[in-house]
Amino acid sequence: MVDIAARFGSFVAMYDPKPDIVKHAHVNSLAEYRRLYRLSIDDPVAFWRRQADLLTWFHPPQTIVDRDYDAVDFSWYSGGRLNACFNCVDRHVADKGEKTAIIWAADEAGEYRHITYRELKHEVCRLANVLIAHGVKSGDRVCIYLPMVPELAYAMLACARIGAIHSVVFAGFSADSLRDRIIDAGCKVLLTANEGVRGGKKIPLKATADAAVEGLSIIESVLVVKRTAAEVPMRAGRDHWLADEMRRHRATCPVEWMSPESPLFILYTSGSTGKPKGVLHTTGGYLVYAALTHKLVFDVHDDDVYFCAADVGWVTGHSYIVYGPLANGTTTVMFESTPLYPDPGRYWRVIDDIGATIFYTAPTALRAVLREGDDWVTRHSRKSLRILGSVGEPINPEVWTWYHDVVGDGRCAVVDTWWQTETGGILIAPLPGATPCKPGSATLPFFGVEPILVDEEGKELHGNGVSGNLCLRASWPGQARTIFGDHERFRETYFTRFPGLYFTGDGCRRDEDGYYWITGRVDDVINVAGHRLGTAEIESALVAHDAVAEAAVVGYPHDLKGTGIFAYVIVKPDAEREDPAQIAGALKEHVRHVIGAIATPDRVLVVPGLPKTRSGKIMRRILRKIAAGEFEELGDISTLADPAVVERVVAARQAMR
Ligand code: WT7
Repeated sequence: MVDIAARFGSFVAMYDPKPDIVKHAHVNSLAEYRRLYRLSIDDPVAFWRRQADLLTWFHPPQTIVDRDYDAVDFSWYSGGRLNACFNCVDRHVADKGEKTAIIWAADEAGEYRHITYRELKHEVCRLANVLIAHGVKSGDRVCIYLPMVPELAYAMLACARIGAIHSVVFAGFSADSLRDRIIDAGCKVLLTANEGVRGGKKIPLKATADAAVEGLSIIESVLVVKRTAAEVPMRAGRDHWLADEMRRHRATCPVEWMSPESPLFILYTSGSTGKPKGVLHTTGGYLVYAALTHKLVFDVHDDDVYFCAADVGWVTGHSYIVYGPLANGTTTVMFESTPLYPDPGRYWRVIDDIGATIFYTAPTALRAVLREGDDWVTRHSRKSLRILGSVGEPINPEVWTWYHDVVGDGRCAVVDTWWQTETGGILIAPLPGATPCKPGSATLPFFGVEPILVDEEGKELHGNGVSGNLCLRASWPGQARTIFGDHERFRETYFTRFPGLYFTGDGCRRDEDGYYWITGRVDDVINVAGHRLGTAEIESALVAHDAVAEAAVVGYPHDLKGTGIFAYVIVKPDAEREDPAQIAGALKEHVRHVIGAIATPDRVLVVPGLPKTRSGKIMRRILRKIAAGEFEELGDISTLADPAVVERVVAARQAMR
């Protein structure tokens, strides 16, 4: 665990909320934040009953919350009836039908499409009718493997409209990863595109999708978006062009009134063991939580143009590109490109082109543009900006300060938002008009959220100035309800390590002022360029290669990605005579093929052995130090089965350049 106070000194600058923001903010003083926070903790039922009014209900909720820690069962707003699509689309058409719902920023610089709430409703209804025509019913699962095109949002909302459950798979994942997720969720329809376009490059999505569903009978229909002019093979009876199908259907489709605990979506995420798990979110609590956090953490008003640069394939895109912003009737952006295309000024160019007032991205993207020089930023005006958000990994204080001073011209609020796929929405973050910030700290908990720090034995660490494992007490409406098809795994993963608490897997420090500093994962999960990966997943991909006998993967500090992927491999006798550089290259390619580009190891080191305890457990602590080049601080190695192996691994590491 990194002790941030020790690393950056005990003096940390405080940044007070900007007067211009305070003037109009929904929550406009620290005292007001504290008052509401107290209320939300002391009387959660009253607090969350009031927040339900953010949505339009067909039937109002009866019971606000029901928590059963023994059964690991949490339900919110039961007795009510609502529809997520209705709340994100239909209800806005009456009073803001001509307002832009989505601005699509295409990969090609300068190319935009504005979709009004009225148009959004028509497209979503057509797509919903297509799904119905392909046999999709309430409760069925639909897999969405699409690039950042508007159809991605239409498809999610169309599923929500008819009560189907979407499972969006990030378009960077491999055929194997897609196939595993389709099988696990039991999807019957798959949406994809002929090709994706990103950073000027074409991505052959249909070919990957074809490989994923080859011989898979559960997929009855594949609906294909035509993003480019590329011809792709279409299997008769199974594959259909989505646009052709949509043209055949009416632009109206009734909504299915759902119970608040009906599943809304499944989203796969990596854990410390096994295959990625399908985190399941439900309708009522999730939508209330996404809408409220979006409104308050980004201080959203009706005239804002809100630009989150994430991909909808991750939870950030679900909660803060699609559901939160659209539930609030906001103009939201879908950005198809990358921060560096066609040049490192792309973000700021988009912001100027569309007049974005709120911008939300990951530290890894900021580091990538920062190192290209301030000139790429300052040549664009950015005068529309008001609020700058960060998510996905700890933001280094240096990057925070750059974001604030250079991108925001010292005038904008910076909000560092800590949360997870499982939490559904932001749990720790400043409120722009209320919370003074310290660069690098996610600051204070959101309403209704009680962070608890515990030591290794599970003893709660009270008071300020303590570090430990970050857990959460109670339940908040956006909390995941289960892992699809495996409630026992849900219980085991999050609720057994520290009984009665939800364990996040993160380490955290609460400083003298009660501010929270996330120090990174304490389990075998690594956060690479803001993407979450399980080291076990990468290891099993590696050992599936013919040349590999054993593998151990750890994270190491990486300038750009925050954490890089370091793989130690022991090769099989047959491969021992081969060139290690060649093996390393082949293994990188192999992992990319098996999981996807985001999991490609940055470094592969062939070693003669791995440090293990006498019971055979790999000592990752030592491997992490060696990967980081901290050879002097290996700690106690006397408990190893063969302490001599450490020297040989160190020698191999030192020989690497
Ligand atoms: C993990 C969750 C939340 C959406 C994107 C990632 C890390 C996330 C922060 C932050 C420090 C952060 C944590 C967390 N993380 N935000 N602001 N500061 N760390 O979602 O893929 O589920 O990953 O990302 O380690 O546990 P995810």
